[in-house]
Amino acid sequence: MKYRAPGRINIIGEHTDYNDGYVLPFAIDKYIYLEIEKSDKFTFSSKNSNEKISLKNLQKTNTWADYIIGTILEIENIIKKDIPPLEFRIESNLPIGAGLSSSAALEVGSAYAINDFFDLKLSNEDIAKIGWRAENKFVGLNCGIMDQYASALSKENHALFIDTYTKKYDLIPLNLKDYNFYIINSGVKHELGNSEYNVRKKQCDEALKTLEKKSFRDVSYEDLEKLKGISYKRAKHVLDENNRVLKTIEALKNNNIELIGEYLFESHESLKNLYEVSCEEIDYIIDNLKNKVTGARIVGGGFGGSILVLSKEDDFEKIINNLKYEYYKKYSIEIEYFKVKSSNGVEKYV
Ligand code: GLA
Repeated sequence: MKYRAPGRINIIGEHTDYNDGYVLPFAIDKYIYLEIEKSDKFTFSSKNSNEKISLKNLQKTNTWADYIIGTILEIENIIKKDIPPLEFRIESNLPIGAGLSSSAALEVGSAYAINDFFDLKLSNEDIAKIGWRAENKFVGLNCGIMDQYASALSKENHALFIDTYTKKYDLIPLNLKDYNFYIINSGVKHELGNSEYNVRKKQCDEALKTLEKKSFRDVSYEDLEKLKGISYKRAKHVLDENNRVLKTIEALKNNNIELIGEYLFESHESLKNLYEVSCEEIDYIIDNLKNKVTGARIVGGGFGGSILVLSKEDDFEKIINNLKYEYYKKYSIEIEYFKVKSSNGVEKYV
């Protein structure tokens, strides 16, 4: 049996999903493909890296296989039964470590595959939550639900508006007129990402503690005045970014794509200066794009990875070659880029 789970981009709402905030991602047409079959031991192989990992007992491997192993353990937890040994064969055209959620695609893809293979009758929402718990409990990244929800529940030509507080979601038609989204992969792997990510989460929790609030949903701009330094900066980003998500949905409904571009640039400024999750190379690219494209910002966890660009095709084609050249001259890194197309969430693939 073959399945595919997509990566995602997030239009706006960055570092809000573990702060009870709003996010607006959609799945993209880059996938992790999985094949599974029964075996005498658990085996995980990747065509891309020519790796093969075999295990008699499920345990941590500190490799990409941990995303699948964590997922299997979560499913076992739910069904209160052991999953018999399986062979997983993976292939991917989704760049790894580029902030496009290859890890969530692995989790959601393997949960969906196991569910279908053993007819466990789990819903796609259950599958998203299983992936999220695997990431938090087994892999150890205290992330929010955005990536797993996007990979499991997206629909082509729509963005997925998620209220991570209530966990309710809504599909918003994505009509960009003659504008497109592009991804530029900075080529900087977000290695610092995981540890700094958990630090950000802690800093937000501390801000809440100072305010004696249980959730960011109860924090107002007035409350922010009681915060200082890092606490203030992190909390201000969360409140502003939540507003930008709601305003972006309004702009989408009103077909005002230029305005969305402004929100993207604003979001980047905030991620750079208030949330402090950007890096030199990404800021260099964003500065280069200002006044040339409609909008751009860093996406995902940060500290490297990718940039989301909103632009008319002609404008983008005009500047990308020069940017590639200048970036290579400065950092000796080849920029990769592609035009983003929306996709359905995880599905069977024949
Ligand atoms: C990573 C996490 C997501 C989200 C983003 C930042 O991609 O996996 O849950 O927090 O960072 O918005």
